[in-house]
Amino acid sequence: MKKLIEKARDKHFLTKVELIELLECKNIEINNFLFSTADIIRKHYLGEQIHLRGLIEISNICNQNCFYCGLRNANNNIKRYYLEPDKIIKTAKNAIEAGFKTIVLQSGESSVYKLDQLVYIIKEIKKFDVALTLSLGEKSLEEYKTYKEAGADRYLLRIETTDKKLYKQMHPNMSYSNRLKCLDDLKSLNFELGTGCLVGLPNQTFESLADDILFFKEIEADMIGIGPFISSPNTPLENATNGDFLLALKVMALTRLLLPDINIPATTAMETIEKNGQLKALCSGANVVMPNITDKTICKNYSIYPNKANLNVELNKIKALLTNKFSTINRTISNDHGFHNR
Ligand code: 5AD
Ligand code: SF4
Repeated sequence: MKKLIEKARDKHFLTKVELIELLECKNIEINNFLFSTADIIRKHYLGEQIHLRGLIEISNICNQNCFYCGLRNANNNIKRYYLEPDKIIKTAKNAIEAGFKTIVLQSGESSVYKLDQLVYIIKEIKKFDVALTLSLGEKSLEEYKTYKEAGADRYLLRIETTDKKLYKQMHPNMSYSNRLKCLDDLKSLNFELGTGCLVGLPNQTFESLADDILFFKEIEADMIGIGPFISSPNTPLENATNGDFLLALKVMALTRLLLPDINIPATTAMETIEKNGQLKALCSGANVVMPNITDKTICKNYSIYPNKANLNVELNKIKALLTNKFSTINRTISNDHGFHNR
């Protein structure tokens, strides 16, 4: 088993069968070797700097009904909101003044923001020295093109799972092929592309997780976000078992070995499900952290899953707090935009 990890370390390649073997492995020593090897590869390719991305949850309104997500349209138990464009721009400006070099605008999938409003928001934020990421769901090629021309740099759209049958079960009225088309469209427009998956969905197999990892390599993603599934109230999966932290960490570490120089966040879901989950992820291949910078009174309604781990400090204290936290693992915060250098 160690030989397989060494092969992945040296060749950045594993077959599906080999990936499954490693994913299934329950041996603590082997798994720890996987995590420390992913940490070495991260250090070799990307160094000790951690990139911060300031996340603004601009609206929790969503037309979709993903089985796992608390923001699904059928959930009438949450208060829906959207932030006015000028409020979004103001929050971004405050974050940039507090030292953030990337802003991420995330929302459910809806058309609450008209195209011209989004163009206005993008252009205003891009007047500052900052990279801008959008995560607004599935849109048309024309819409993506308009965002790009307005100045957006990156787009996040997780494939969620490459298991077509499971994708269908989890996403009523959505189509796997359209998801792929969106990712292709984004790539053709030269966005830096972020995707990723959930780990621990009901009926998800090791085989399908291996396929997910191979898919990340195949589409040459620039960023991969991986998080454990967390059961959310008022969803069809409210009684399902949570995903396993260690398995999510293994999917992440294997992704690092196969895609050595991409950006990999230590996701909020990892921190939510495991004490110090974020630091553990940062020591197992991750090099990015995405602190939530949405107004505290509002982001409680962005309840994708319960007890979401958020920093309870003001925006201008986040950087200092994280500088301290990361110093415990001998890491520092980057001062550049954190683009993926191929
Ligand atoms: N548990 C963990 N992650 C979730 N997401 C949505 N619902 C859940 C959940 N219950 C993730 C999806 C989505 C991202 C914004 O949040 O992968 O792409
Ligand atoms: Fe909507 Fe995204 Fe949640 Fe699906 S995962 S219900 S698209 S917010």
